[in-house]
Amino acid sequence: QHCFTKSSDGFLYCEDTKVQDIMEGLEKRPFYLYSKPQITRNVEAYKEALEGLNSIIGYAIKANNNFKILQHLRKLGCGAVLVSGNELRLALRAGFDPTRCIFNGNGKLLEDLALAAQEGVFVNVDSEFDLENIVAAARIAGKKVNVLLRINPDVDPQVHPYVATGNKNSKFGIRNEKLQWFLDAVKTHPNELKLVGAHCHLGSTITKVDIFRDAAILMVNYIDEIRAQGFEVDYLNIGGGLGIDYHHTGAVLPTPRDLIDTVRELVLSRNLNLIIEPGRSLIANTCCLVNHVTGVKTNGTKNFIVIDGSMAELIRPSLYGAYQHIELVSPSLPDAEISAFDVVGPVCESADFLGKDRELPTPAKGAGLVVHDAGAYCMSMASTYNLKMRPPEYWVEEDGQVTKIRHGETFEDHMRFFEGL
Ligand code: LLP
Repeated sequence: QHCFTKSSDGFLYCEDTKVQDIMEGLEKRPFYLYSKPQITRNVEAYKEALEGLNSIIGYAIKANNNFKILQHLRKLGCGAVLVSGNELRLALRAGFDPTRCIFNGNGKLLEDLALAAQEGVFVNVDSEFDLENIVAAARIAGKKVNVLLRINPDVDPQVHPYVATGNKNSKFGIRNEKLQWFLDAVKTHPNELKLVGAHCHLGSTITKVDIFRDAAILMVNYIDEIRAQGFEVDYLNIGGGLGIDYHHTGAVLPTPRDLIDTVRELVLSRNLNLIIEPGRSLIANTCCLVNHVTGVKTNGTKNFIVIDGSMAELIRPSLYGAYQHIELVSPSLPDAEISAFDVVGPVCESADFLGKDRELPTPAKGAGLVVHDAGAYCMSMASTYNLKMRPPEYWVEEDGQVTKIRHGETFEDHMRFFEGL
């Protein structure tokens, strides 16, 4: 069951609510619209897949940091994966259990590591200098830190180079030939560090589970090596990265169950706890960016639909050439012609497009147009470029109620940065 469906008479629904009706009750500006039940269903799919394993679902907060969504994910039992001190602070405010949180990153700052140490968060060691900082943080906090080594397994995730992270020339993680150096370094800091596991993250938008399996085989071999030196390591963290069906072609993509099943035996054979770090596959498909059509124009051989949303609200198409499915929220007029349109925003950049060559009926001014699968890396990557203020967010609840879950930013919010200067 998916939250966004088109009725036979051509209206888009979010669960049982017509998107057109939601639009009519709101201020005319782009907004993000989520289905709360879909978030629940996505988490349940992971939980069911993980049955029989000791595990932590560490939700990658970078994908979407809406506070209400975080609280909901926490109530559903998720832990959190953090990449900055502020993400850590946010997770703590949202009530996440710090001992189910993992702090990742190639440039973690000492003060943030000290907070992580204080709170008892797992920390992934990314480099020699990172290890030094974690030791210093442990001393500041007066606490031993549970660390995992982020090993870069050099498995090709077969994704856009900007979201590949586990290859040998990546800025993330440590190379296997340096493993011994790190094991020796941990041994010299018995009061500061407790090595509890190994971590890898291959990349994002991965659509073949064999890739996870290949990495997991390498990782359990490293764990065997590490255990052979007397370390009691119990955690395998295989990162995030499962892709979703952005193209809406009905292609069969791996599910959380496929992902977990491909590593299950390996995890059980070594008696390990499994940590996973999904972002996109938990949240992307729960949301649309809802836009209004400003007008339609033609230049040269190109037809354009100009909408009020843009690369400022949703940058993935501009940044990665990412495809996100686009459709109108209500039926077009019976005589509307279907043509190929570039769907563009008002921002002063030719990179400002949400979709290219999309077959769509010519929409009326003011018509609703949605960009699908906008729950992950859309709002969290939004900017205020051209002073397009960040949009409000709403979700449809189980009982059909539409609730605002984040205020839209306003011009006055912007002016506040200059108050008192
Ligand atoms: N763990 C680590 C260490 C990561 O670096 C990431 C994502 C995740 C987990 C979550 O990965 P996911 O399950 O969401 O694929 N902005 C890009 C995606 C960047 C992903 C960065 N790391 C996009 O819009 O596609």
